[in-house]
Amino acid sequence: MKEKIVLAYSGGLDTSVCVKWLQEKYDAEVITLTLDLGQREEFSEIAARSKATGAVKHFQLDAKEEYVTNYVMPSVAANGMYQGKYPLATALGRPLIATKMVEVAEAEGATAVAHGCTGKGNDQVRMDVTVRAMDPSLRVIAPVREWNMSRDQELVYAKEHGIKIKPSNSVFSIDQNLWGRSIESGPLEDPDFEPPVAAFEWVTQPRDAPDTPGYLELGFAEGVPKTLDGEELGEIELIKRVNQFAGKHGVGIIDHVEDRLVGIKSREVYEAPAALTIIEAHRDLEQLVLTRHELAFKNGVEREWSWLVYSGLWMEPLRFALDSFIRTTQRRVSGNVRVKLYKGGLRVVGRTSKNSLYRPKLSTYQKDSTFDQASAVGFIELWGLQSRIAAKVASEITRGKNVEHPKRKQSQALKQKSK
Ligand code: ARG
Repeated sequence: MKEKIVLAYSGGLDTSVCVKWLQEKYDAEVITLTLDLGQREEFSEIAARSKATGAVKHFQLDAKEEYVTNYVMPSVAANGMYQGKYPLATALGRPLIATKMVEVAEAEGATAVAHGCTGKGNDQVRMDVTVRAMDPSLRVIAPVREWNMSRDQELVYAKEHGIKIKPSNSVFSIDQNLWGRSIESGPLEDPDFEPPVAAFEWVTQPRDAPDTPGYLELGFAEGVPKTLDGEELGEIELIKRVNQFAGKHGVGIIDHVEDRLVGIKSREVYEAPAALTIIEAHRDLEQLVLTRHELAFKNGVEREWSWLVYSGLWMEPLRFALDSFIRTTQRRVSGNVRVKLYKGGLRVVGRTSKNSLYRPKLSTYQKDSTFDQASAVGFIELWGLQSRIAAKVASEITRGKNVEHPKRKQSQALKQKSK
């Protein structure tokens, strides 16, 4: 019986060539797997292409619900952003794809899984690490990492083997799911080159966006966005609508010189209208309901969480532990946030919460303030205590008061000798 290999299949050039290459090199049966993570794709075409390329079976799984519930929403709670800029769409999708590869491989009695990631990127790490953590008995094969073909050589290989390729005029390498669209390579490899309009599909150019501002109101329950403009929506639908609305107003483009895990700096461009809008609103609501101590500590947790996710360590126990902390903080993160969108700009203009720590009677500069200004005097006395002492010590040092002068010491020693 032939060995079976489960291949994560997008239907693009790389993974289509992978099917044939795995059959030839390993004399194996190839089973393809495509996940629906909300990317805007024709899945029937992908299935047809898999069949035409010679895969013995094709699975197409709708994983949108799982993706949003178990990956995207924890990322919202964590305000997940790598290097403060990238909302992690691709990074969040990879461990889920890997998980499903393992499930299909186990169900089908496959001995290996394969993916089309290159040896230069982050995605290979995310896939390999997750698969091996879940089922160490499975071999992971990454043909693109092994074969070392250029894109042109892949096209020749495809032609020679009668592989039908999606007619694509895109010069970019694209990965997309509900949370965002990642665009790289081609002319974007020059970090000084402004991304051409042709790179974008989700976001309207600001100059073409509506001339009047758009508003949206997001309602959060324990850190999860549940309503849009007062209407209760499933999370998938909510994200879709925010993507559409914010994208229409020109919001969501990110241009980032990114530090990849393998040490390469790379120019990455993203479209993530919903991710930017929802995280901005969520962060703002947290500022209203969490204490400054919670906020300051959570900030470090968020950076660590985003780094673990970016760097392929979704299965790392520390990530679970950080998630527990984050979940605890989210119990009070309920309320409404109003966002204004205008020609590429995004700004929170209002927020309310039953858990608000904002007390108008304390904050007001009007007469009815309940804040006792006299108590500030004692506070300042103690708050600055150590700084005052340190300043005094510093000034004594510069005036030479509290230093044992080396010369003086020496002369005393000499004095003793001469006695
Ligand atoms: N740099 C991003 C990341 O590592 C995006 C990767 C996009 N992948 C792709 N195949 N185009 O998450």
